[in-house]
Amino acid sequence: MELYKIYNEDCLITMGRMPNEFIDFVITSPPYDDIRNYNGFHFEFEKIAHELFRILKIGGIVIWVVADATVDGSETGTSFKQALFFKEKVGFRIHDTMIYYKNNPMPQTGKRYHQHFEYMFAFSKGSPKTFNPITEQTKYRGLANMKNRGKEGLLDYEKVPRTTEKKVGNVFFYSVGGGISTKDKIAYHHPAIFPEQLVYDQIYTWTNEGDLVYDPFMGSGTTAKVAHIMNRKWIGSEISKEYVEIANERLKNYTTNNLFTKK
Ligand SMILES: C[S@@+](CC[C@H](N)C(=O)[O-])C[C@H]1O[C@@H](n2cnc3c(N)ncnc32)[C@H](O)[C@@H]1O
Repeated sequence: MELYKIYNEDCLITMGRMPNEFIDFVITSPPYDDIRNYNGFHFEFEKIAHELFRILKIGGIVIWVVADATVDGSETGTSFKQALFFKEKVGFRIHDTMIYYKNNPMPQTGKRYHQHFEYMFAFSKGSPKTFNPITEQTKYRGLANMKNRGKEGLLDYEKVPRTTEKKVGNVFFYSVGGGISTKDKIAYHHPAIFPEQLVYDQIYTWTNEGDLVYDPFMGSGTTAKVAHIMNRKWIGSEISKEYVEIANERLKNYTTNNLFTKK
C-alpha cells in the first residue's frame, strides 16, 4: 500500500487492502450520532471495529475519540455501546478510558452543565507494545524519609531523594477553536478538527519513530500532519473529496517542527 496518502474512499475499502497486523497505531474520531453532517456520509461501525482489530499489530492501540448526541432529552450512550462492542464482540481490551477535556467548550443552554469533554478510549490488542508516558514535575522536592529495617530489625528512617517526575493523569486538557486547535486556517473548513496537541500527545505515548499510524476518518488531515512531523509513517482514509482536498492543501503547508509542546 502507498504510505503518506489519504485514500479518498470509505475506510472499509482502504482497510480491505491492508494485510493482517499491518498498522501500529490508530487515532481517530468517527462521525458519531450524526451530530454533524459530514457532507452526508455515514459509516458502518461494526464492520469497521472488526477491521481495525484485524489490521492492527499485536500490542497496537486504537484511540477512539467520541461523545454522545442528546436525542429526545437523553444522551444516546453510543460511546459506551461502541466501547463495549470493541471489548465484547471484537476482542480489544478497553485499556484506558481517558478524557479529552475542552477548556473552552461551546456554552450550553438548558438544565445541563456545559459539555466540557469527550471520551478518548484506548482500545488495545493485547498488552500495549509501547508506552512512553508523558510526565510532569512532582510538587515536592528534596529528600524524603524512607522507612527501612536496621541491623537489629528495628525500624529506621533513611533520607532518599524524592522522585521529581510522575506520570500525568488520564484527563487531558486542551483549548480549542479558531487559531488554537491548529494555526492552519484551511483546516477550519472542516467542522470538527482535532487539536493538534491531542494527536501529538497520543502518538508520543503509544508509538515510536518509524511506526505506522492510520486514521480511518482523516477529515482535515490533523493525524497525517502530526504523524509526519513526528517521523511516523502514516496512511489515512476520508470519504469526502472536499475534505481530502482540504487536507492535502494543508499538508503542503506545514514547515516547522516547533508547533507542539515537546514532552
Ligand atoms: C470527526 S471527523 C474527523 C476530523 C479529524 N479528526 C480532523 O482532525 O480533521 C469524521 C470524518 O469522517 C469522514 N467519514 C465519514 N464516514 C466515513 C467513512 N465511511 N470512511 C472514511 N471517512 C468517513 C467524514 O467525512 C469526516 O470528515
